[in-house]
Amino acid sequence: MADHAQPSFKNDTQPTIARGLPADFYTDPAVFEREKARIFFKDWQCVGHVAMAREPGEYFTAKVVDQELVVVRGKDGELRAFFNVCQHRGHDLVKGCGKTRQFVCPYHAWTYELDGRLRGAPGTKGMPAFDAEKVRLKEIRLRVFAGMIFVNLGRNAAPFPAEFLAVEDEIRSMVPDIEAHRVVVEHPLIHRCNWKASVENFSECYHCPTVHGYLTSQVIRSETYRLDSNGWVQRHRIEGRDGNADQWILHLWPNTAVGLYPIPELGEASLCMRHMYPIDHETTIYHYRWLARDGVPDAPIKAYARHHTETTGAEDCEVAGGVQRGMRSLGFDRAHLILTPDQGHSSEHAIAAFHDRVREALGEDIAP
Ligand SMILES: [Fe+2]
Repeated sequence: MADHAQPSFKNDTQPTIARGLPADFYTDPAVFEREKARIFFKDWQCVGHVAMAREPGEYFTAKVVDQELVVVRGKDGELRAFFNVCQHRGHDLVKGCGKTRQFVCPYHAWTYELDGRLRGAPGTKGMPAFDAEKVRLKEIRLRVFAGMIFVNLGRNAAPFPAEFLAVEDEIRSMVPDIEAHRVVVEHPLIHRCNWKASVENFSECYHCPTVHGYLTSQVIRSETYRLDSNGWVQRHRIEGRDGNADQWILHLWPNTAVGLYPIPELGEASLCMRHMYPIDHETTIYHYRWLARDGVPDAPIKAYARHHTETTGAEDCEVAGGVQRGMRSLGFDRAHLILTPDQGHSSEHAIAAFHDRVREALGEDIAP
């Protein structure tokens, strides 16, 4: 596989064992509340791809944990994000996705421009006390990075991570026309586990030979797995099996992956974005979004995406749920992580780096 000027992140190459986060980090709603405040409402979160709102007036709703947002392309061509809530009585403003000239609240028909300004509020004419100019949808910081839409809910938004910017050239070299891709199909799957267990399952292929029979026998050569991580970005590289394209994935803190996945029926790799969206402390949506560049047909991607959810995706749902049950067991305390970065697929060093990042984000002194 070509390296495309992909520098290795620092790995601790000494084979060793690390201990994981305490089990109650996966089961305690109070820990989840701290993660909401210090990770999901503080750091940058990916909520979609520019294809989801490419034309003026196109919008989609998205969630960051329990906060619903609407992302919209304004008449001026700018992408903006707002909390999806009418400033009149707090009803949610729009549902799903679509194309519109304005947002009209379904409750009392307060109407907003796509840039968030209040355009009309029935029955308020001739009310000097009501200053419509002062009422706006609450805007959220938004940044497009390599075709991906990121938002930051924080009042004092953290800078966009330098670690992401450092891999932009790599993303563009692997997926040169990433902005021009279209979304072919989405598959949200439910992981009955804490979001961290979903990320951890993504962060190693140690389980691939045991869990993913189809994937390892037909699509990838799991023994070629190479993985490095600096806590903010993980890079996964795997050779394709039997003429399949190679697989290349970056996972961006905290819960988004972007990469090229070999699609046997297509004869090449296709872009897939994945998110491990937390719903509550024990439920996560593992969201697949498959994309295609111009000239690539939808049908083989749709067929593979469906098959993938029924095989690899369903298998990961099973093991994610199994781990969550174990986290509640009185017989489990915290994971033993095998750190053997030089041995390829059997190492869990990216999980250790992920745990370090969680500890750092929470600002807590938790013994590793
Ligand atoms: Fe898996």
